[in-house]
Amino acid sequence: MQTVFHMILNMQGQKHKKTLININDFSDVDVIEVFNIASSFEGCSIKGDLERGLFVNVFFENSTRTSLSFQKAALNCGFKILDFNISSSSIAKEEGEINTIRTINSIGVNAVAIRAKFSGQVGLFSKFLNENTILINAGDGTNEHPTQSLLDLYTILEHFKLPSKPNTLSGLKVGIVGDVVNSRVARSNIFLLSRFGADLSLIAPPNFLPENFASYYRSQFKCKTFYDLNSALKQKLDVLILLRLQKERMENSGKIPFPISQFAVKDQAALDDCVIMHPGPINDNAEITSKIAYESEISLISRQVKNGVLIRSAILKFLSK
Ligand code: CP
Repeated sequence: MQTVFHMILNMQGQKHKKTLININDFSDVDVIEVFNIASSFEGCSIKGDLERGLFVNVFFENSTRTSLSFQKAALNCGFKILDFNISSSSIAKEEGEINTIRTINSIGVNAVAIRAKFSGQVGLFSKFLNENTILINAGDGTNEHPTQSLLDLYTILEHFKLPSKPNTLSGLKVGIVGDVVNSRVARSNIFLLSRFGADLSLIAPPNFLPENFASYYRSQFKCKTFYDLNSALKQKLDVLILLRLQKERMENSGKIPFPISQFAVKDQAALDDCVIMHPGPINDNAEITSKIAYESEISLISRQVKNGVLIRSAILKFLSK
């Protein structure tokens, strides 16, 4: 059921040029162009070559990485930032989310990144913004987090020194482990990494990888599914993407059994040559130890955060054309 729901959501993605709501709104050619823009930014201080107007983050759910990196990216690209914070906004006076978007539209902005609590909301909000306003999905419910998947793919290409071209991940084994069913990062990464040829494995206990969900991703995206991490690691993964338990998207989260220790990375030796990634936030010592996440040479996590600024700058520049 969840899968059909997400298929319908993905079909609703706006197609006009200035939005990134679902990762499939960007063709492979678009992705490669964004990566070329990002590469051209590497190693130099990015300077906004144009006065691009106003950018605002509208985050109905908390964030550190996505929110800050969008703001830095917007400054890089020549936008001025409007300050908007849900907790000090009129949402606290029970103004609705759609009316908040209508108000921001009337005030007048040129670009907006929206993080929504529920799947499909960013697509819905797009109907209340001027058509030429740049709109980027900064994560909506369990649906998608397209900019995270772009920065993840860029980080993988950078680490393995692979070119930005179709099928570039052919032969690369990528595992996604943890709370897969509630993860928008997993979903966008399955769509994008499989498009570029990755051999994907989804790894979780059965209640976080239910059979209807697993069978859809096995048949449509050729994903392998594993119900324990050790079996998945035996196929010599190249990349392991870790996910935290997304309790904010679970009912009765305290009561849902998740055998964390069987799906966590606490012993670097068990990983062989596999590098690890994590979209963050990391729950220390749950899915991974801080030492492996931040001090080991096999971790690409800090690189992912750094590349987040680069990729979001490139997306803003691409959508500003
Ligand atoms: N990866 C990610 O979305 O992190 P934040 O919630 O901190 O933005």
